[in-house]
Amino acid sequence: MIYSRIVGTGSHLPEKVLTNFDLEKLVDTSDAWIRDRTGIERRHIAAEGETTVDLAEHAARRALESAGLRPDEVDFIAFGTTTPDLVFPNCGVLLQGRLGCRGGPAFSVETACSGFMYALSIADKYVRCGEAKRALVVGSETLSRITDWSDRSTAILFADGAGAVVLGASEEPGILSTHLHADGQYKDMLYCGSGVSKGFGPDKVKLSISMVGSEVFKVAVTTLGKAVDETLAANGLDRSAIDWLVPHQANLRIIQAIARRLDLPMERVILTVQDHGNTSAASVPIALDRAVRDGRIKRGDMLLLEAFGGGFTWGSALVKY
Ligand code: UT7
Repeated sequence: MIYSRIVGTGSHLPEKVLTNFDLEKLVDTSDAWIRDRTGIERRHIAAEGETTVDLAEHAARRALESAGLRPDEVDFIAFGTTTPDLVFPNCGVLLQGRLGCRGGPAFSVETACSGFMYALSIADKYVRCGEAKRALVVGSETLSRITDWSDRSTAILFADGAGAVVLGASEEPGILSTHLHADGQYKDMLYCGSGVSKGFGPDKVKLSISMVGSEVFKVAVTTLGKAVDETLAANGLDRSAIDWLVPHQANLRIIQAIARRLDLPMERVILTVQDHGNTSAASVPIALDRAVRDGRIKRGDMLLLEAFGGGFTWGSALVKY
């Protein structure tokens, strides 16, 4: 039996930091409100000209370095992003060109905040069936490019960053299961209303995120709660089996609700939202990389990864690290 196992992690945040106090000067908000309602303290913003693939390349090289692999040893790239550099070629291919690992499949998936979970699930299947041996899975975003900086309901949340993992084929179990879902009836709850086919229109403000925040919040909590139950049930495990929750970093209060559902103390939850806000597809691999590097997550630990975003789309994974 072949499994896929995480053999390396990496992440990267752009240099420029935007604090809650900086945002107080842009919109009618306060550091206290943002901390209290979201847990966010600061976020990172890409420099002018710095792209999603630029951020991804840093994260990918770090992940490969930690796996002890050369870039040309990668034979599969799955890239989650909602903020691609170009209409085409896709970000997976652009990254492949930078790394110089030619020939294997490279593609991106645009499932918003669950983009990394979708990419991870697809890459896992390819490794398990023997068609890929070393897969690079990336989540990278420059959400600052589609943020309306005059809208206080979204400007305080979204930001830029990248995370990556390398999956290797292994006889030992690594990724135990992945679970993907979508429900298109919620398309108007969280979206960016412009696009290539629909058109961008003269009103540039439409090229920005719209969100019914309180509704998204409620559905996220119930849906992720069910996703967590589904993931444990699929593996015949009780919630006590989980060592670490590595959640999508959108809002501290959503994360706390899922931790309660798992009966996990917050010390067993990887929390990075305070440092980078909601980086969409990048948030889970950024959190994972941080906890691996600071030594909290160790080989053999049982991890539950989950994410929820626009569409709605959502996904979870049970991982023996
Ligand atoms: O990653 C994809 C999934 N996305 C999410 O998970 C986001 C989910 N939603 C959220 O995180 C929360 O809904 C928000 C953080 C966006 C908003 O928090 P909330 O507790 O749901 O606030 P609300 O939208 O119900 O608004 C409460 C009040 C309103 O004022 P009134 O009507 O009570 O007078 C808002 O106008 O807070 C006001 N408000 C703000 N005040 C200061 C909304 N945004 C702000 C702000 N600063 N930035």
